[in-house]
This record gives sequence, structure tokens and C-alpha cells, in this order.
Amino acid sequence: MKSIDSVAKPFLKWAGGKRQLIPQLTKLLPNKLYEKDFIYIEPFVGGGAMLFFMLQRFPNIKKVIINDINKKLTDAYRIIKDDAEGLVLMLTNLENEYNNLKVEDSRKEFYLNQRERFNEANLDLLEMTALLIFLNRTCFNGLYRENSKGKFNVPFGRYSNPTICNADVLYADSELLNKYEIEILTGDFSNTAQYTDEDRISFFYFDPPYRPLSATSSFKSFVKEDFDDDSQRELSNFCRQLALKENVLWMLSNSDCSSKNPKDTFFEELYKGFDIQRVFASRSVNANASKRGRLTELLIRNYKL
Ligand SMILES: C[S@@+](CC[C@H](N)C(=O)[O-])C[C@H]1O[C@@H](n2cnc3c(N)ncnc32)[C@H](O)[C@@H]1O
Repeated sequence: MKSIDSVAKPFLKWAGGKRQLIPQLTKLLPNKLYEKDFIYIEPFVGGGAMLFFMLQRFPNIKKVIINDINKKLTDAYRIIKDDAEGLVLMLTNLENEYNNLKVEDSRKEFYLNQRERFNEANLDLLEMTALLIFLNRTCFNGLYRENSKGKFNVPFGRYSNPTICNADVLYADSELLNKYEIEILTGDFSNTAQYTDEDRISFFYFDPPYRPLSATSSFKSFVKEDFDDDSQRELSNFCRQLALKENVLWMLSNSDCSSKNPKDTFFEELYKGFDIQRVFASRSVNANASKRGRLTELLIRNYKL
């Protein structure tokens, strides 16, 4: 029997996934988390690399709040928590059907049919989640992107034998989500403010859509709502408000715009007065391989270690 610790991890490939950055994030976690019970809040959960790490590392988490604006994603977390078995069954069927097709054109046709089905309104949440994972494993570059009408539109990807159903990961994630008292919210990050508690530490990890490094690199957003400079400002105001509260600690990731253009001190100004560190990033979702160099990212905190 495998231990949860070795397998619980993101069940989707997600743009901006934090798996590779976890060792650096860990070094900057507040010392208090190792000493006291706390509430863990992740307002932009995405694929949940940090979430799954935190749940395994800190059994002293008393309550977990996760949120994302992408409803399909948050519904998938709900299904994994409540019906991992049903999901594994459905996904195994999709995997068998797909891998039995040996000609690329047939696989492509199958993919496009499933994509159409996924975009239908009122799809049952179990089937929606199975299709979300199937598409994530078989689409181009494991991207999640929607058109202006909110329809998933990533093209077919060429893989010889993709693992579509990783049952070990799904069961381990499900077990972990069920070990804690957890709220899964769908909506704007600001909805999470009400979950702090004066008598207990609340630790927020913010991983918003990154601000593009330059006008030309503007990576189109994850969902139809854009996260523009005004949204970044709202987020920094939100963080400033939180910092005034008793027992609230937060850490936030974003792009290091001034490394590309020293005059672009957008984040240095927004987060003046807080601790700003630079860490090495390895971006994994970038269609242009030449841009996958080692970049620095910002890690901003309202606490000293
Ligand atoms: C950089 S990704 C998070 C990546 C995640 N940490 C991981 O490891 O996969 C940003 C997430 O923010 C979500 N998002 C965008 N705008 C949002 C908003 N206003 N409120 C909450 N979530 C939002 C996106 O759907 C996306 O999943």
C-alpha cells in the first residue's frame, strides 16, 4: 500500500503550476506554522501543487479554504473529494477507448467529440470532471484555455500513450481532501476574507495569474475574465487589509517585472513595506521553447521568518 505522502499531487497540469517552486516556497513559510494549529487559505488554487504539499506536511491545519474563479476546476475538486471511485471508473473507460484507437486521425476525432461534449451546458459534474481530466491529458501542452464564450478550445495534442487515469493520485488526493474540514469556493479571491479567525493563525498563499513581463509576452488569461493591472491593484489592497488583521499571515507569488525592465517597478510600489524576495522559477507552460529560460519570480510576505 502506497502512502498518501508519496502520491498526492495535482490531478491536472495547470498553467503556473507551483510544483517545482515548492522547495523555495517552503523555506519562506512562517515558523509559526510548525508550532501552532492554523487555517490554510488558497484563493487562487489552480492545480493545487501548494495545497497538496501543505496538507501532507502540516497535519496541524484545522481548516482549509480553497477558491478559484474557474467553476469547472472547483467542481472537479468537489467530485474528487466526494466520488473518486466513480471518477476513476469513468476515466478508465475513456482511457481504454482512446488508447484502443491506433490511428492519429481517429484519436483526434474522439478528442474533438469529447471536447464538444465537455462544452455542453448542464453536464453532470462527474462526467464533466472526467472529461476535464481526459482533455487535460490529451490536449496540446496540457493547457486550459477558453474562448470569449467560455468554451474550452485547446487543440488536440499528439501523445503516443498518455496516462489518462492515474488512480493512485486520484485516490490519494481524495483521501487527503477528506482528512480535513474543507470549504471549496467558486468565485473571486476576495470571497476568502471572511474565513479568518482572530483566535487562530490564518495563512494565505496567493498565486494569482501573473502580470505579463512585457507587452509582447502577454499570455492570454486562463479563463474568460482577464486579470489585468487593476485586478493586481485590487489584490494588493486586499492583502493590505488582511495585514491589518490579527493573526493573518500571507505569502504571494508574482512575476518579477523589474528584472526585465528596471523601470517597471509596479510590484515594488504596490507592495511597499512588505518583504519582497526573488526566487528562481522554471516556467513550464510556454509554447515558445526559447522563452523557457531561468526567470526570477517575486515572493512577497507580510511577515518575517
Ligand atoms: C497561477 S494560477 C494558480 C496556479 C496554482 N498555484 C497551481 O499550482 O496550479 C491562477 C489561478 O487563478 C484563477 N483566477 C483568475 N482570476 C481569479 C480571480 N479573480 N479570483 C480567483 N481566482 C482567479 C485562475 O483560474 C487560475 O486557476
